[in-house]
Order: sequence, then structure tokens, then C-alpha cells
Amino acid sequence: MSDQVSNEMLDLDELRAQRASVFHRQLSREPYDLDEAWDFARSNAERCGMAATLARAKSTGDTVAIPRAGVAHWDAQLELMRTLSAAGAGVVPITVDSLTRSLKFEDAAKALAQSTPDRSVLNGYPLLAHGVERTRELISSVDRPVIVRANAIDLRLVAETAFASGATGFVSGPMYATLEYSKLGSLEVSIPNWQYIFRLMGEYAAHGVPIVEDAIGFAQSGTCSVPSLMHVGVVLDALIMAGQGVKHIVPYQMLQGHVAQDVAGCLAVGTLTDEYLAKLGFGDVRTYVASSDWNGAFPSRQPDAYGLLAANVLACAIARTPVNYVKTIEEGIGVPTAAANAASIRFTRYLTHLISRQAASLISPEVQFELELNLMEARAILDAVLDMGDGDPVRGSISALAVGVLDIPFSPNVHVRGNVLPVRDADGAVRFLDRGALPLPAAALRIEAERLASRRARSGSGELSYQDVIDDLSFLEFEEPTLPEGGDPHS
Ligand code: 5AD
Repeated sequence: MSDQVSNEMLDLDELRAQRASVFHRQLSREPYDLDEAWDFARSNAERCGMAATLARAKSTGDTVAIPRAGVAHWDAQLELMRTLSAAGAGVVPITVDSLTRSLKFEDAAKALAQSTPDRSVLNGYPLLAHGVERTRELISSVDRPVIVRANAIDLRLVAETAFASGATGFVSGPMYATLEYSKLGSLEVSIPNWQYIFRLMGEYAAHGVPIVEDAIGFAQSGTCSVPSLMHVGVVLDALIMAGQGVKHIVPYQMLQGHVAQDVAGCLAVGTLTDEYLAKLGFGDVRTYVASSDWNGAFPSRQPDAYGLLAANVLACAIARTPVNYVKTIEEGIGVPTAAANAASIRFTRYLTHLISRQAASLISPEVQFELELNLMEARAILDAVLDMGDGDPVRGSISALAVGVLDIPFSPNVHVRGNVLPVRDADGAVRFLDRGALPLPAAALRIEAERLASRRARSGSGELSYQDVIDDLSFLEFEEPTLPEGGDPHS
């Protein structure tokens, strides 16, 4: 099976056959009429397209703030999108609920029936239950481009419905969806599912509807990782997208609260994505780097959450990324209210406005150091993965994952070795405590070890352990150290 999966472009007749089969099996109906969908989507994209918005930001040095947001009821979703647009979101989201993401369309429809404008029984917008016509009305009613946000190993019908409804942005890819989000899914199965979506996007693009796709790669979900390793996943996702004709890609950098490392990560992921796209013959693909606020355990106190977001916005503004995916001050509590989401966007816009004009003066030697380290490590892993596939990123990823040349920490997926352990150094930058079988150059290993030396020296035993790895997962929640009984803080 695995030797049939490759990065070759899916034949158009094969895509047609797969569309018919997926629609029949999962929806018991014929596929959407693409000529009709392209007509609507083309005029909608000309009115308000995400690619044009990001291209403008990239050329002028602006940053487009994009929230995540979805509720079940149509009226409430429209209100939410309008509120976020008014708060300064440059692109507005439709975050899809989990039942729809896991293909439980009937359950999602039932939950929609129980939802009201004031009460959402779902954690997002049930896209299939609302359907193309209603979602076109929704998208046509807002004055910003719309991105549909979901993540799973089979989003073929979600993507079909999103694009036919006028979404000009979409999220994820096989590396992220499979290795960071799925327990049992394998790349052999999920890559073809995603290639269907990317090929469909390629067809939309060829018919005048550019659609932007987020390459999230190995950005950790709920935990942390070493930036160079996160970049490797982003580049592999991007190469698989480009292989099917996707022309607008958003390489992601998940920020982790260490400003120099975060700035360097944003710069490195853009450089690497462009470099490897060009190397594999996809030089015509446009990229727009996104910094994404911390994705791990968030403080539940709102003032603390503002502090964490501020550290992230600072890094994003120094790196001048064209996109900033904004978390909210209620991230530590649950699905945010529209008001908290709007406040987080407004705050992000404000701080970006303040800092981005000072960006050049804030690129420190430490940023340069981290940037070079990221590039050296990521190139070594990527080159090894590509070699294992004789230049094919799909074959290479599958082979490399099996032997741990591709490996990530904290994966929920059974096919991942999971021998890599990240830990923070004394300054809070994330380093490799154990690199498993990742092919890191000797120079990088030496630097990683040196950077951990000061934290090692500080720990009682002089060594760092698995417990330090676990403790670091709540590093950004920050509790004040408790004073010993009767202790005097001023003594
Ligand atoms: N509304 C707002 N944010 C959401 N997220 C997931 N669903 C929603 C929603 N319905 C956010 C989570 C997490 C990220 C992956 O998406 O809070 O930060």
C-alpha cells in the first residue's frame, strides 16, 4: 500500500472518481457541481479573498490578525463574525464543531436543532448541517475573507462544502492532522485524504479561486516542542500541498513564550518553506508566515493570559509576520465568548501597531543565534527524510517515521516512536533533552547541550529528568512560588 502513495499529482479522472465515491458513501448524494461552485466562489473571492488580503499585508509589512471562532446557530455565527471584524480581525473564521470534524453529520444536525442564538450545544459551526446555500449567505454577509477552520484526517466533505460556500482559507494537512491529532490514523491513509483536498484546491485555483492553506506541521497541540522540529512538519505539509497544486501556503510558527526563539522561529519557518518549495520545483507557490499564539496550557487568570499574549504579539511584531493567529484571554477556561475574543483581537492589533515599527531595532544577536540553529537542525532532518524517499516527501515521511528519523514528542499517534523529549533551558527556550533518532548534526547537539548546562547546574542532582519535561508543560501557567511557613518575603 505505502509504495503506491507518493507526491505525484492526483490524476483529474481519479479525483472525479474519488469525489463520487466519498459523496455517495458519506452523504448519499452526488458531488457538488464544480462549474456552479466556481462561478459563485470566483466572484466571492474577487469581493473578499484571503490570498489577496495576505499578499497585501506581506507587501506592506502589515500583520493580519485572525481569531478562531465558531458556534452552532447561524444567527449567532453571523453576529460573532461581525463582532470580530469590527474588533480588527482581517480574516474571519468559521471554526467547525468536533462532531462534523469526525464525520458525525447527523449528530451535529441534532445538536444544531437544540441550539439557539444564545446557547450553542456544539463547539463550532456544523458546516454540513447548515449546508452550502446557508453558508454562502453567511459568508456573503461579512465584509472580510473567511477561513474555515477544522482539523482531522478526513476533512474531504468539510473542504468540499467550505470551498463551494466561498471560504478562501482552510487549515491543516497530513502531518499535523495525523501525528498531532489522531490516535490510530496512519500517514498511508491520511495523506491520500489530504491530497484529495489539496488537488481540489488546485482546481479551484486553476479556475480563478485562490484558496489559502495553513501548513501547521509539527506545531504541538497542548504541549511544546523544539522549533526546528516544528518547522520540519510545516515544510513536509507544504510540499505535499504544493504537489497537488496549492498555490498559497501559510507556514505556521507556534510561539512558546521565549521572545528570541519565537522571532527566530517565525523567520526560519518562512526561509525553510520557501527554500524547500523552490528545491522541489514549486517556486511559484506564495507563502505568508503566521505566528500562532501559544498552543499549550494557558493561564486561566485573564491578566496572566494578557501577559502571555503580549509576549507572543511582541515576537510576532518583531518578526513582522503577515499573519497572527490570535488566542484569547479565555483560552484557559474554554470556548471563548465573542467579547473576550474581540478584546484579544483588539489588544493584539494595538500592540502590533506599537511594536512593529520598532521591529528592526529589536532583532538581537540572540535571534540570529536561534535562527541559525533552527536552520541547521531543520535542514539536516528534512534532507534525511527526503533522501529516504529518493526526493519524494511523501515516501520519505512514511519511511522516516517508521525508523524515528521523523519523530515528535507527546504524540497521541501509535505510529510515532515518541522518543524525542523537549525541555526548557534556564532562560525558557525549548531544547532537545533527548533527540531520539533524529539526525541532528554534531554541532547542533553540542549547542543544545551547552544551552541546557545552566539549567542542569541549577537542578539539585545536576541532571534533568522526565519530571522536568512534564513540569515544563505548565511553565506558562506560572504560579507564584509559595513562601515557606512563616517566611518573610523581605528578609
Ligand atoms: N471558538 C473559538 N475558539 C475555538 N477553538 C476551537 N474551537 C473554537 C471555537 N468554537 C480554539 C481553541 C484552541 C484552538 C485550536 O482553537 O481554543 O485554542
